[in-house]
Amino acid sequence: MDNQQLALIVPAAGAGERIGGETPKPYLKISGKTILELTLGRFKNVSGLGEVIVSTSAAYVEPTRDILNQVFPEIRTVVVEGGKERQDSIRNALKMISGKTGLIAVHDAVRPFVDPKDIEKCIESASRWGGAVLAVPAKDTIKIAGSSQEILKTPDRNSMWHAQTPQVFWAALLREAYDHAEQYKLMGSDDSSLVEQIGGKVVLVEGSSKNFKITFPLDLQIAGWLQKEGHL
Ligand code: CTP
Ligand code: MG
Repeated sequence: MDNQQLALIVPAAGAGERIGGETPKPYLKISGKTILELTLGRFKNVSGLGEVIVSTSAAYVEPTRDILNQVFPEIRTVVVEGGKERQDSIRNALKMISGKTGLIAVHDAVRPFVDPKDIEKCIESASRWGGAVLAVPAKDTIKIAGSSQEILKTPDRNSMWHAQTPQVFWAALLREAYDHAEQYKLMGSDDSSLVEQIGGKVVLVEGSSKNFKITFPLDLQIAGWLQKEGHL
């Protein structure tokens, strides 16, 4: 990885509306461990990792500090308060990154099944091209629809991918993308889309569908089953 120091940003400040319930998703437990702890653990041995920043809601700052100290006792870790949208949570985290960082990886707190080998592949590609995103080829045909659900277009499935995280970028490029988005009030559902807006090159790295985002109650059941089968 050309000796560049890597920073990891983990957004964990969402309310988890689609899954419902009182506890936000990253703090739900699978066999006794929080999803956040399991997710962070996937990055424990990633080469070049120098600092980890987690964005969370005010009520979870203290427990998040404890989790970070436990998983990463030897590197700099920071907890910041998140914002209204995921993008706001990441912007707050970006402000805390030290000058030594050459690459930044952003990974959702609720993707605990990411394969460490895929993380390394993504970092390598980002280091070379500027940006890289783990992704899987679309399984279903994707439709573009209008406001009354009428189909407008059916893009060729062979060029459709599902973007996951980690999404890894040269630090200066990601900072510039977030500054640009703030200036022009642009919102994107992922980090790559903001880098794309400023003409940054981002490549897809094929990962695995096991790296799904825990989003609905069914995902939580699948996560419990995968954990029992030894996938963590
Ligand atoms: N996230 C965040 N700040 C927000 C919204 C989301 O840090 N304002 C984080 C979530 O905690 C999660 C990741 O971004 O780890 C991906 O978001 P998503 O799966 O959409 O989680 P939620 O926004 O919590 O869920 P929902 O959209 O169902 O409310
Ligand atoms: Mg959300």
